[in-house]
Amino acid sequence: MICLLHRLQATRAVLLSGLLGLLVAVPAFAQSVEELKVVLADAASRNTALEAGRKVASFCANCHGANGNSTQGDVPNLAAQNPIYLLNQINKFYTGERQDQWMEPVIRLLSETERLNLVAYYTFQRVTPVRAGTGSKTGHEVFLRVCARCHGPQGLGGERFPRLAGQQHDYIVKSLTRYRDRTGVRMEPEMLAMTAALSDAEIRALADYLSAMR
Ligand code: HEC
Ligand code: HEC
Repeated sequence: MICLLHRLQATRAVLLSGLLGLLVAVPAFAQSVEELKVVLADAASRNTALEAGRKVASFCANCHGANGNSTQGDVPNLAAQNPIYLLNQINKFYTGERQDQWMEPVIRLLSETERLNLVAYYTFQRVTPVRAGTGSKTGHEVFLRVCARCHGPQGLGGERFPRLAGQQHDYIVKSLTRYRDRTGVRMEPEMLAMTAALSDAEIRALADYLSAMR
């Protein structure tokens, strides 16, 4: 993470100058879920947003990888993530409801339009799971029993529910452990309840299964 800090500092000036240009060039969209749906429903506005998002995403790529496929285990993939989930998380970083030393300052550098454009960009990228094989049998069993009713049997999620299929292994372990341990970083009630009874071994099994899921 130390190296990430250096990269963040080095790219902040570049980002700021790039963002000022985009602010002038792109029409403003208010940052509500309803407006996101409108932008995504229309092919022309979706493509405009996506292409504008691609430019800003070159900064995010320092940590989240090219096209939102992360190369660092504790940094999540953003590729193919569900748009409303992405927008909700960005808003949570913005307000501080979700805490992260990297993401809170990064998100506050962005305009509402840029945040929406980034969502449009990442939603339409493909995720390439880094793990081969079918993952853990125990993980599969726990997933179908406890998790699939919200995250879907294929791990693709839905409006409010994140895609988990192909997500980074270590990021899944980190996420599940801190919900279970109620660290305060992310206190979403449904996930606190769903993880309360998980053992460390089950968390690892779930991460093995989900990170290999295609
Ligand atoms: C300095 C590194 C760094 C940069 C630059 C960065 N991120 Fe992140 N991002 C992270 C880390 C680390 C996390 C995981 C935080 C956690 O543990 O909750 C994260 C998490 C996220 C999440 C939550 C994903 C999920 O599955 O819940 C979103 C959305 C996100 N970043 C978007 C962005 C966008 C958009 C940009 C560019 C404007 C960006 N990030 C730039 C490090 C970075
Ligand atoms: C009742 C619905 C529900 C169930 C069941 C559920 N989840 Fe979730 N899950 C959510 C919601 C809602 C979020 C977004 C939480 C937030 O904003 O912090 C989430 C977030 C997550 C995240 C964070 C993903 C990311 O990209 O940061 C992981 C990992 C996760 N769930 C895994 C699981 C696993 C594994 C199970 C089963 C043990 C499970 N969930 C069961 C609703 C559910």
